[in-house]
Amino acid sequence: MNRRKFLSLSAMTYLTAVGNTSIAAGSNLRDARDFDIAFITDVHIEKGELAVSKFKRTISEINALKPAFVWDMGDMSLYPNSSKAYLDCVKQFQMPLHACPGNHDIALYDANPRKLFNDCFGPAFYSFDFGGVHFIALDVNIVVDRQGKNTIDACLDPRQIAWLKADLEAVPDQMPIICGVHIPIVSTYIQRRGGGTFPEDFPIAPQFNESRAGALVDLLSSYNFKLVLQGHAHENERITVKGIEFVTSISVCGCWWRSGEGFERGVDNVPRGYRIIEVRGGRISHRYVSSCESKVNRRGEFEGLDDPIMPSKNTAIIFNCYDAPNGSTAEVRIDSGPWMQMQKYTGKGGYVKMQMPHHFILRTDTTKLAPGEHQVTVRVTLPDDTIVKETTRFFATSLSLNLSR
Ligand SMILES: [Fe+2]
Repeated sequence: MNRRKFLSLSAMTYLTAVGNTSIAAGSNLRDARDFDIAFITDVHIEKGELAVSKFKRTISEINALKPAFVWDMGDMSLYPNSSKAYLDCVKQFQMPLHACPGNHDIALYDANPRKLFNDCFGPAFYSFDFGGVHFIALDVNIVVDRQGKNTIDACLDPRQIAWLKADLEAVPDQMPIICGVHIPIVSTYIQRRGGGTFPEDFPIAPQFNESRAGALVDLLSSYNFKLVLQGHAHENERITVKGIEFVTSISVCGCWWRSGEGFERGVDNVPRGYRIIEVRGGRISHRYVSSCESKVNRRGEFEGLDDPIMPSKNTAIIFNCYDAPNGSTAEVRIDSGPWMQMQKYTGKGGYVKMQMPHHFILRTDTTKLAPGEHQVTVRVTLPDDTIVKETTRFFATSLSLNLSR
C-alpha cells in the first residue's frame, strides 16, 4: 500500500489538521453553499472478491452522484486482513473520503489499537467545517477485557469528551452541526431484541448505557446539532430526541455479503445501500439510497405476497417502509375496502427475532376474498405528516381448495 498516495485521497486533502480540530477551506457561515455528501457505513469488505466487486459498483454509483465528499463511519473492515482490499477500492472515489473507525477497524490486542487506521486516515476523531456546516466524527470504540477476551464497548473517553466540549465552544452559534459515529448513541437496537441487559441478552452489540448516552444527548442538544449519523446495526432506524435526529443507516454490505451475486439486505430486510445528505440554503435533509444489484424504485415493500395467499381468518399483511422514522403510523386497505390500522411488527431480522424498526402488520380475515387477483395499498404517515403510499397486487386462492388440502 502506498500510504502517502492514499492520504492524498483521504481526509487530509481537505483538512489541515490542528490536533484533532481541522479547518477546511471555507470555515465559516460566509462560505455556506449547497452541496451533497455520501454517508456510507459497514462495508465489511472481508469476504473476498464478491464483496470487492459489489463495493466497486457502489463506488461508481456514488461517483455519478457527485457528492462533495464521502464519509465512511467504519467497519470497513481493516481487521483481520482486509485493509488492502478496502484501500484499493476507495482509490476509485473521485472525491475526498473522510473516515472514522468502527469496532472492526480496531486491533484488539495491539499496544496502539488504532495505528493502522491512523496511518491510513489520520485522527480517529476530528472535526471540520465545510460549506457552512460543522462536521464532527467521534470515535466511541474502547477496548475492554471481557471474560479474558478483548472486545469493543462503546464509550466516549474523558479525553474525547473534553476535546468535544472545547470544539463545540468554538462553533459559531448559527452554524449547523452534523455528527458521525459508528456505534449508535441513540437507537432501540437492544430493546427491540427483547433485552436491555448487556451483555447477556445480545453480547455482540455493546452500546452506550442509557446514563452515558443521556448525558451526551444533553450536551449535544445544547448546541446547534441537526443530525447524528450512525452505523453498526446494519439497519435503518431514525429517532428524534431533543431536536436532534439520530439516524442509524443501512450497511453497504447488507448482511455481510451473504447473498452471493444476489440481492443483499440488512437485518431489517432493507436493500443494502447508503445515504445522501443534502444541504440546501443551510437546511439539512437526507435520503436512503438502495444500491446497484439491490436497487429498488420504491420506498417500501409488502412481505409474503409474492406467492398466492391462502384465505384465512388471520392473514398477515406486512409492510416494510424502508426508512420510516420512529413514530410513523400505517394503514392498509384491500381493494376498495376500509382503511385498517397496522401495528408494529415483530419478526425475523437477520439472525434474530426482533421488533422491526419500520415494519407494520395487520392480521385480518381474508376468507371473504374472491379467488383471483386483488390489490393492497398501504399509507404510512411519517412524523412530519409526509405520506408514503405503496400498492401491490396479490393472488388469493380458492378457500374451498385450501380446505380440501
Ligand atoms: Fe460495528
